[in-house]
Amino acid sequence: MTSHDVIQEQAPVMGLDARYFNDRDVFERTMDEVFYKSWLLACHSSQVSKPGDYLTLSIYDQDVIVANDKDEGIRAFYNVCQHRGHKLAQGSGNRKLLVCPYHAWSYDLKGQLRGAPHANKVPGFDASKICLTRIRVENFLGFIFINLDPEAKTMDETFPGIREEIMTLCPDVEERKYAYHHTADEGCNWFVAVENYNECYHCGHCHPSFAKGVIDPATYNIAPYGDLQVLHHTSLPPQNQDSWYDTSGADYGSFFFWPASSIQFYPGGVVNSFSWRPLEVDDVRVFRTFYSNDGAVDETLQTVIDNDRDTTFQEDLDIVKQVQRGINSRGYVPGPLVVNPEGGINNELPVMKLHEWLRAAVD
Ligand code: FES
Ligand SMILES: [Fe+2]
Repeated sequence: MTSHDVIQEQAPVMGLDARYFNDRDVFERTMDEVFYKSWLLACHSSQVSKPGDYLTLSIYDQDVIVANDKDEGIRAFYNVCQHRGHKLAQGSGNRKLLVCPYHAWSYDLKGQLRGAPHANKVPGFDASKICLTRIRVENFLGFIFINLDPEAKTMDETFPGIREEIMTLCPDVEERKYAYHHTADEGCNWFVAVENYNECYHCGHCHPSFAKGVIDPATYNIAPYGDLQVLHHTSLPPQNQDSWYDTSGADYGSFFFWPASSIQFYPGGVVNSFSWRPLEVDDVRVFRTFYSNDGAVDETLQTVIDNDRDTTFQEDLDIVKQVQRGINSRGYVPGPLVVNPEGGINNELPVMKLHEWLRAAVD
């Protein structure tokens, strides 16, 4: 009996009930059990390359600072003042000290309290004991990942072999620098967006430009990487005259790191990434970032950015909003997934995997 027969004899794998996409309790549990315990792509090292550089970001209700300390390099902290809790830093910039907007307590980029106006009159006040709360941070091939779980395994322990796999596909990945990013609030639950990113069953129908211009549909595949919580997207470059740019030199590949980050390589070594950060149960902000060797956007990269934003990215935005509305409908009934054990582009096997990972964490 072939694996194909097994699938046919069994009932198909079904989609998930609406609550996984629209229930506040499931969402809150997902934040606690998944997002606050996983490695998440925060930024690129080139965005905080100089001592004093810092930037801020939010994972749902948790505000974070990534900063470059002159002695210790790139660090991450919760973005909360250790006096009475005001948000400490806004936006991004370069500072020796971060000064709280409320009572002007100031911290260096090690997170150490350096100044607290009038506190010298307080008996027993010891500034040396007051520090911002640190967050785990790692530089993974130039990409800065954070993990709010102090007990988390390292990136390499969590995703063994992926560093080497990426280096094989793009040997000079560590030379890339941040060049450009744009964002969108997608108007859907984070999981709708992540499911959509990780299947290409809709590509032929919804992304004709991508399917001709970036990948070769006949060789496209998305599969779990061993038993890791990684989905590995692979394809040869387009085998036609319609590619967006000169795609020779390296294949297409993407590495989706559960739950919400992807480092992606368009053919020819065009490095880009996705990071999804939940805003609410029914909204997620996606960060779409592009990289180049000198941090500039050359003509080829501009073509990729424009084509992607105007076609694939916009097409997916329209899809995920419609799906969220549909899942909220009283008429929503989860349907069978199109799981093909032989792989290929028309395959929802990666969606089945995502469902397993989510349910293992929150059920
Ligand atoms: S809350 Fe930051 S100085 Fe008071
Ligand atoms: Fe898509």
